[in-house]
Amino acid sequence: MINAHFSVAVRGAVSVWRASLTFADALQQLNDPVALGNTLLPEIDRLLQLRSLTCVNVKAYAWNAPFVYLPKVFDHNELSETPTGFLPVPNNEATLAARASAIGCIAVLGSNTVSYGSENDGALFVNLVVIPGESHQSEKSKGSMKGHTDGVWFPIRGERHPWDNRVAPSPDFVCLCALRNPKQVPTTVMPLSEVLAKLTPATVSELGIPQYNIGPQGTFRKRLREIFGSDVIVEDSQLLFWVEGQPWIRYSHSSARTADDELSAASLAMDEFKAACLECASSHPLEPGDIVLVNNRLSLHGRAEVGEEHGEDSRWLLRTYGLDTTDLDADQWHANSRYMLYP
Ligand SMILES: [Fe+2]
Repeated sequence: MINAHFSVAVRGAVSVWRASLTFADALQQLNDPVALGNTLLPEIDRLLQLRSLTCVNVKAYAWNAPFVYLPKVFDHNELSETPTGFLPVPNNEATLAARASAIGCIAVLGSNTVSYGSENDGALFVNLVVIPGESHQSEKSKGSMKGHTDGVWFPIRGERHPWDNRVAPSPDFVCLCALRNPKQVPTTVMPLSEVLAKLTPATVSELGIPQYNIGPQGTFRKRLREIFGSDVIVEDSQLLFWVEGQPWIRYSHSSARTADDELSAASLAMDEFKAACLECASSHPLEPGDIVLVNNRLSLHGRAEVGEEHGEDSRWLLRTYGLDTTDLDADQWHANSRYMLYP
């Protein structure tokens, strides 16, 4: 029930906020997600308390669950045609409500809504849509996605990148807002606790040894090469971390490799992990107006095949990230931005 109550509270708070502003002013406020989160929080908390909940309860829930699913949190009626690229996000009532709701949800979880300057020009929200054509990016946008954590090249929160202290941590939450999903293509989630339960203690321990190579995901690759040079593989990383007794994961089927041969213990452990991920995937076909906040430490996520249809009324999600930025240094942010992380 916590999901439904959370959804009603966010929806109510965003409606009150929206009614107090012109469209242009509301749109402007998306540029300062910290301030907008602070504006929305008291009303969300008041509405949660009417249901015998608080923001503290919701945050605790989100840190013990693989994902938080908010059904029907925003209205999706006044929507333009589905775009055909990551950017720009069209400005209309539906995308405005989706974005404000996402910022409110992430604020409740004690995180900030953030972007990375090295991905999609640092845009706070991007369209996840089918990109027409034959390019690699286009093919990826049509296909399925195996289990991964987002921002896999970045360190987990609390650790520093081996090359540059300024590199910010990967996100705590991946936030997906569903605007259209006519073929009910499911988002898949693999809870880490379930995956680990299928593995032997020896395999689990192998995944926690700093012996894996991790490259950046495609959306980051070009810009990271421009900043750090041609070879942007991070060597000797763990895939599994223990943070205050809780396992955290950093993994991508396409970006994580072992340095040595295919029969090494490291490699075999990764193969077993991959197989266990497949067994633990649950499917969630998001409906328009739904938001899902995937815990990027406690689960992996992916999706089923999307197909060829693009534009018009084809599948359209918005994505943003949430991160607890309490312990970040000033130089881990891009100057003059309230949300863009380095690099
Ligand atoms: Fe992802």
